Amino acid sequence: MKQKNLMRKFKNVLVTGGAGFIGSNFVRFLNNAEPDIQIINLDLLTYAGHLENLSGINGNHYHFIHGDICDSKLVRKILMDYQIDTVVHFAAESHVDRSIQDPGAFVQTNIVGTYTLLENCRQVWNERGGYEGNHFHHVSTDEVFGMLSKDDSPFTETTPYAPNSPYAASKASSDHLVRSYFRTFGFPITISNCSNNYGPYQFPEKLIPLIILNAINGKDLPIYGDGQQIRDWLYVEDHCDAIYSVIQAGKTGETYNIGGENQFPNLEIVKKICSILDHALPESPYIPHEKLIRFVPDRPGHDLRYDIDITKIRTCLEWQPSNDLAQGLEKTIQWYLQNREWIESVTGTSAFQNWLVTNYDKR
Ligand code: NAD
Ligand code: DAU
Repeated sequence: MKQKNLMRKFKNVLVTGGAGFIGSNFVRFLNNAEPDIQIINLDLLTYAGHLENLSGINGNHYHFIHGDICDSKLVRKILMDYQIDTVVHFAAESHVDRSIQDPGAFVQTNIVGTYTLLENCRQVWNERGGYEGNHFHHVSTDEVFGMLSKDDSPFTETTPYAPNSPYAASKASSDHLVRSYFRTFGFPITISNCSNNYGPYQFPEKLIPLIILNAINGKDLPIYGDGQQIRDWLYVEDHCDAIYSVIQAGKTGETYNIGGENQFPNLEIVKKICSILDHALPESPYIPHEKLIRFVPDRPGHDLRYDIDITKIRTCLEWQPSNDLAQGLEKTIQWYLQNREWIESVTGTSAFQNWLVTNYDKR
């Protein structure tokens, strides 16, 4: 069952969405792991993309291009100009709550954008003589599988798709397109479906960084519904390492589930953050931070539970997570405490302040 002998080589890697949370962590990871390759980062710098996430990454083998994955001409030009042999595709609209308020952007970027990348790669790589030496990796989510009830078995790679939010549906659709390019055209792909990430550079619209920030500032800690929804949490560097394993040695045409084997209800996660902050900030006027918890009306269509079986990637690619939630949360909280400038620069915009009003004040 082991496949770790494949070991693809790459020279010119296009990372899409490399100014976002996971993408920027991946650019940093790849830059360290493969200092001699060329990394081209294509990102539209939406509200979720920040060049500050890439500080310290430079040199003549790293290139940032500001642009849209839906811009077919631009995508083709990048593939040609940089002789791209490998694509690692992160770019997406990624926040479930935003997909409930404005699904259109999700259809455009996640579906049309993925199609635009696939089709241009197919054409350019064929013009260059075929797919040999080329690879397209699509980064996806466990949310495509829908929701588990309390006693259901974890998602495996063969669990039928049943997405519940417009975000999950758009990612499911993009997964299907990627898969179809393999089945129909023999186009060289892999797909990974990962659980909830957390760690440095995560935009504070998502649960963990939002709670850290609000707690530091003595603001309410909003818990949707009763807070008993369960997610599986993975430290972002572990996700980057898993993707690196898949692009090196994942079998072409296959899907790999990635997860942290750390499942907790949201309320418990929030309480853990509060407790770490009580110790890290002994002078804070907001101790115990737990008293800031507020239950707010639930997210429509809120999935109760995700749990992901990582047997395949563990067995075939010898990958497993290195950080458990206690280690990962400690590192994450320290990072946010030490990077207040980053926080100010990404949250100080009127767009973000408007988002907080739209999502929370009207709940
Ligand atoms: P993010 O929202 O932090 O970053 C998305 C990036 O994509 C941003 O830099 C944004 O500017 C860029 N982008 C958006 N639209 C674009 C477009 N049209 N053209 C070019 N760039 C565009 O997202 P993230 O949390 O880092 O997630 C990255 C990927 O991983 C997504 O595909 C997401 O579905 C997937 N994923 C995320 C998680 C998670 O917990 N965050 C878990 C599993 C899978
Ligand atoms: O499972 C992988 C997915 O994880 C990724 O595909 C998505 O891109 C990523 O955003 C994440 O989706 P979630 O919806 O699970 O993440 P979020 O941080 O938004 O919410 C985590 C849980 O916390 C969820 O059950 C909703 C809840 N929540 C969230 C926020 C923002 C709250 O209770 N209060 C909040 O204010």
